[in-house]
Amino acid sequence: MDARQVIARLRKGEPVDADALRWFAKGLADGSVSDAQAGAFAMGVCLRGLSDEGRVALTMAMRDSGHVMQWDLNGPVVDKHSTGGVGDCTSLVIAPALAACGVYVPMISGRGLGHTGGTLDKLDAIPGYMTNPDESRFRSVVKDVGCAIVGANAEIAPADRRLYAVRDVSATVESLDLICASILSKKLAAGLEALVLDVKVGTGAFMKSPEEARALSQAMVDTANDAGCKTSVLITGMDEPLAPALGNALEVDAAMRVLTGVEKGPLYELSIALGAEVLASGGISDGKTKLEQAISSGAAADRFGRMVYGLGGPISFVEDWKRFMPEPPVIRAVEAERSGQVSTIDGEALGLAVVALGGGRQVETDQINPMVGLSEVVRLGERVEKGQPLARIHAARLEQADIAEAAVRQAIRLGQEPKKTELVQERIA
Ligand code: URA
Repeated sequence: MDARQVIARLRKGEPVDADALRWFAKGLADGSVSDAQAGAFAMGVCLRGLSDEGRVALTMAMRDSGHVMQWDLNGPVVDKHSTGGVGDCTSLVIAPALAACGVYVPMISGRGLGHTGGTLDKLDAIPGYMTNPDESRFRSVVKDVGCAIVGANAEIAPADRRLYAVRDVSATVESLDLICASILSKKLAAGLEALVLDVKVGTGAFMKSPEEARALSQAMVDTANDAGCKTSVLITGMDEPLAPALGNALEVDAAMRVLTGVEKGPLYELSIALGAEVLASGGISDGKTKLEQAISSGAAADRFGRMVYGLGGPISFVEDWKRFMPEPPVIRAVEAERSGQVSTIDGEALGLAVVALGGGRQVETDQINPMVGLSEVVRLGERVEKGQPLARIHAARLEQADIAEAAVRQAIRLGQEPKKTELVQERIA
């Protein structure tokens, strides 16, 4: 087989059979397919799409490009994954909260993708935290603590690791087929019994309309359940950042505030809703109350601290997290030029502003600056007075803050009362 033939078939909109997709996934994993070919493949799938069979075949081929884990633990092995949003650090809250409820969460996460933040990049903001431990350490932290959030190593879905990095910088993220194969290849390789997927819809999401979000949800639910993993989806609103902070260290801070009970709000609510959904799939009833208690009692924060320590981070992170997260040289409030009500927030534009500040990658080799981003972002419908901050910019340099300020002004509009949507909009199982 030849990568050019596979890409040419995609370009012409011709069906690509399961053998060819398996061959391509293997080539992604072993490096025999080049970056240029991976990029062309991703663009072909984005533009032409795969058939239902093709999507399932690509997902399974990417799962099988590495090894599929098996667990022997004293409780259900569960996880949640999101299609990606802005200010969305639910993984940092959910994994330890679920662990405190007696389930095991081997969470294999990704890096930033396009305008969205990535859980691994956020964890890199914690000094010493190893996002790529060897498998034995990953296994022992899951067993001892109940949760470990790590990246896919060379053994877990290596085809996704390769394609993910290429998609991030080649405008090929927004594809139902690629998102489904990317998410599920990792999750199915992690050997889960139950999974909840958070499919985001709105200005900060890859899926901008409810129809697109529904189609992706159904495709993922069908594929994952067929593969033997009990899976459901919550379609959730992303018309504004979930937490009022965007950027790596800033989102760790937002998650710590929720885990330590300093703050509630949408990040807390969504974490509880997603967590309760997967606990129910794992056979645990009354998940909402259990998760609320896990957070209010400090048990979830304790699990987070043990996970951080188990993966190489500071022993006292939870007690003193601010100390480990230095601030950048420039912090600037973007003051409202007039009074009014926040009517729209372009989440994608805010996400891209954070990437431009150095909080994400524009090319694969970019180094991320964990300190930069936006904090105290106003919420939809909030009334702001002239001079009041719309957000605070955290930047490494003044020129970058100037560019981000213009982007924030453009992205956050004052005007009519917005049409408020529910945080959890639909459930698909
Ligand atoms: N998260 C992933 O892991 N992959 C995608 O394609 C999108 C979100």
